[in-house]
Amino acid sequence: MAINYYWTGYKPEFLGHIAETPAVEHCLKLIQEQNPATVMEVGIGGSQFMEQLMGFHSGDYIGVDGTQSFIDFGKSKNIPRTSYVCGLMGKAEAPVADLIYLRHVLEHNPDLNECARWLAEHTRRHVLVVNFLDWLPKGESLHIGRRRISCTNRSRRIFVDTFRDNGLTLQGDWVFRQPKLFERVLLFAK
Ligand SMILES: C[S@@+](CC[C@H](N)C(=O)[O-])C[C@H]1O[C@@H](n2cnc3c(N)ncnc32)[C@H](O)[C@@H]1O
Repeated sequence: MAINYYWTGYKPEFLGHIAETPAVEHCLKLIQEQNPATVMEVGIGGSQFMEQLMGFHSGDYIGVDGTQSFIDFGKSKNIPRTSYVCGLMGKAEAPVADLIYLRHVLEHNPDLNECARWLAEHTRRHVLVVNFLDWLPKGESLHIGRRRISCTNRSRRIFVDTFRDNGLTLQGDWVFRQPKLFERVLLFAK
């Protein structure tokens, strides 16, 4: 059944423009070090991360997104050892993975506690979060081209406390500043 939510109707190409950043490269390095048997990505967008990951990761990849067109785009690449779930973090039934990666996704979800609970239930070891909240001047919205993206601004403290309350402990915290993009990487362990 098709899901109707904020991202319904977006095309994968829309999300390709800020895919390779120092924060993403750092995450790829962390994943390489951890060498998880299964990586699950929540909010796959235009599948750029999966393509970068496949360069060195020899385990399985599970892509989760609430937008059917993003899931279809990922599937159309026919990459071995990949599988997909169309559904919403917080609600969807999905397999358990060793590491869950998500970038620029939590800021679009108002119920952080529901997301953290779902993430804790679906990881065996780690959750790797990239967000760009601190970059937003006032935190409420962001413009990409002519489109306005709604965001919920949250401090690092809110993330750390909510994840801890759901059994996920902060293990690493890195900040990457670029002229137009300020990303924070948080690594949580179960
Ligand atoms: C800003 S895009 C980020 C895409 C990609 N992670 C990247 O770094 O380019 C947000 C993505 O998360 C997905 N998304 C947002 N909330 C979600 C949820 N609760 N469950 C599943 N997917 C979600 C959207 O459909 C969209 O693909």
